[in-house]
Amino acid sequence: MKENYRAKVRERRQAEKKAFDHKALWQNRHFKNDSQLLIKPLEFLASRPLYKTALKLLGKIEGKKILGCGSGEMSVLLAEYGALVTGYDISQEQTKLAEQRALVNSVADKCTFVSSSLEDSSLAKDEFDLVFGAFILHHVSCLEEVSQNVARCLKVGGKAVFIETVASNPLLMFARRYLAGRFGISRFGTDTESPLTIKQIKLFARAFCDYRIVYANFVFFHFISTYLLHDRKNLKWISTALLAIDKWIYEHLGRLRKYTYWWILEFTKG
Ligand SMILES: C[S@@+](CC[C@H](N)C(=O)[O-])C[C@H]1O[C@@H](n2cnc3c(N)ncnc32)[C@H](O)[C@@H]1O
Repeated sequence: MKENYRAKVRERRQAEKKAFDHKALWQNRHFKNDSQLLIKPLEFLASRPLYKTALKLLGKIEGKKILGCGSGEMSVLLAEYGALVTGYDISQEQTKLAEQRALVNSVADKCTFVSSSLEDSSLAKDEFDLVFGAFILHHVSCLEEVSQNVARCLKVGGKAVFIETVASNPLLMFARRYLAGRFGISRFGTDTESPLTIKQIKLFARAFCDYRIVYANFVFFHFISTYLLHDRKNLKWISTALLAIDKWIYEHLGRLRKYTYWWILEFTKG
């Protein structure tokens, strides 16, 4: 049984690696020039409320050692704010993209990128002041191992902040399962990813002394615009109206906020 589970985990990791290697190579082919890799912090954050809130949760950045992941957008931004960043990602091609991004943004001396899964990473104990990840946890195959690794490498009092896709909204989960990829509705993401449940979040939190969930915005009707209207320019007025509904719900119906698709999770090491 245990061997079966391990084989499944290995298989899932390989599938993730392959999917993101492929995505990074595709992006690389479509980049017209290096300027597309430029990260201008204020512009970047202005169009991404989740990242802006996550950054606030991280607190002071300058001079901090931060563990990051992915293709380096946020790692580069953190380095631009004066952090020393180490990024881990299972995909070698995402790692290369992150290195290229750091070079283009003149922060290569502040960034180190390693191609390794977060489960296998040999992160040293108490090495980092902070950890940041965006849309990573719902892709990893063994959350328990990742939570232990992340908690171990954080200094006492350090925070790990993750922006994550969650399974709190049954309607979105239904659409994901039965509608995406059919009836002309686009399907994004990998076959192996799976939105986090509250049970998984609590399990992840066991390695920390405290955790909290922050809802930075409400994302629901927005998906109609992306998946059904394919963000068509001639239907932009509908997309704008749908976004306005999401905003109204966030501001006026606080009890519905937890049904948003993206949560920010903050874990503190004691
Ligand atoms: C949806 S993407 C998030 C991208 C990220 N926000 C960025 O800055 O590019 C998920 C990322 O998780 C990485 N990943 C998936 N499983 C992983 C694992 N077990 N360990 C480390 N990285 C992993 C993928 O290679 C991919 O880069």
